[in-house]
Amino acid sequence: MMKGAQVLVAFVLLALASSLASAFDPSPLQDFCVAINDAKNGVFVNGKFCKDPKLVNAEDFFFSGLNKQGNTSNQLGSKVTLVNVEQISGLNTLGISLARVDYAPNGGLNPPHAHPRATEILVVVEGTLYVGFVTSNPDSRLITKVLYPGDVFVFPVGLIHFQFNIGTTNAVAFSGLSSQNPGIITIAKAVFGSNPAINPEVLAKAFQLDKNIVNQLQSRFWWNNS
Ligand SMILES: *[C@@H]1O[C@H](CO)[C@@H](O)[C@H](O)[C@H]1NC(C)=O
Repeated sequence: MMKGAQVLVAFVLLALASSLASAFDPSPLQDFCVAINDAKNGVFVNGKFCKDPKLVNAEDFFFSGLNKQGNTSNQLGSKVTLVNVEQISGLNTLGISLARVDYAPNGGLNPPHAHPRATEILVVVEGTLYVGFVTSNPDSRLITKVLYPGDVFVFPVGLIHFQFNIGTTNAVAFSGLSSQNPGIITIAKAVFGSNPAINPEVLAKAFQLDKNIVNQLQSRFWWNNS
């Protein structure tokens, strides 16, 4: 009787531990594992197949062009340039990546979004950004700050956050993220721009809106470009 309960507790703890472990990139078990996309034989692993270490070279760990300004001529007035495992295959299993974000003057917005697999640390190099994130339920507390060049801010893993250019010049920030593939959930797109669309009745009730407003929001398409 007692033994059964102990086994159950052990099982629950094990399941909890493995789900916690899988919430973040696993620690590498070798110096590196440069990703390849053309593996013919192998098993699926949590990440990508590894290139033979003898064939690895500097290009596998290299990216160029993050000095280039992103094109912010879009509905949001912002452009995110990602440097993750898709751009640098040597990042595979290393649990880290980078992004550059450009913001148009007077209201360029990186809209509310979340990274399901990464904490983000952002440094402003140009301009003035109003940034914030919202804590989880039940508090849903908004934590905000106005950032100037040289300022650094952290967005904890999974939380909804944004950056807004409140200055009259371009703004530029760089972010480090604690995953080779942080993932991006843009809130407006996930809710009103999913494919296929969520039943409007669901959204009308969830947001306490008239169904016509929901239809209107669902017919917007700015998120197709972002
Ligand atoms: C920026 O993007 C806009 C909209 O797609 C396009 O019309 C414009 O030519 C682009 N500008 C540059 C410099 O690439």
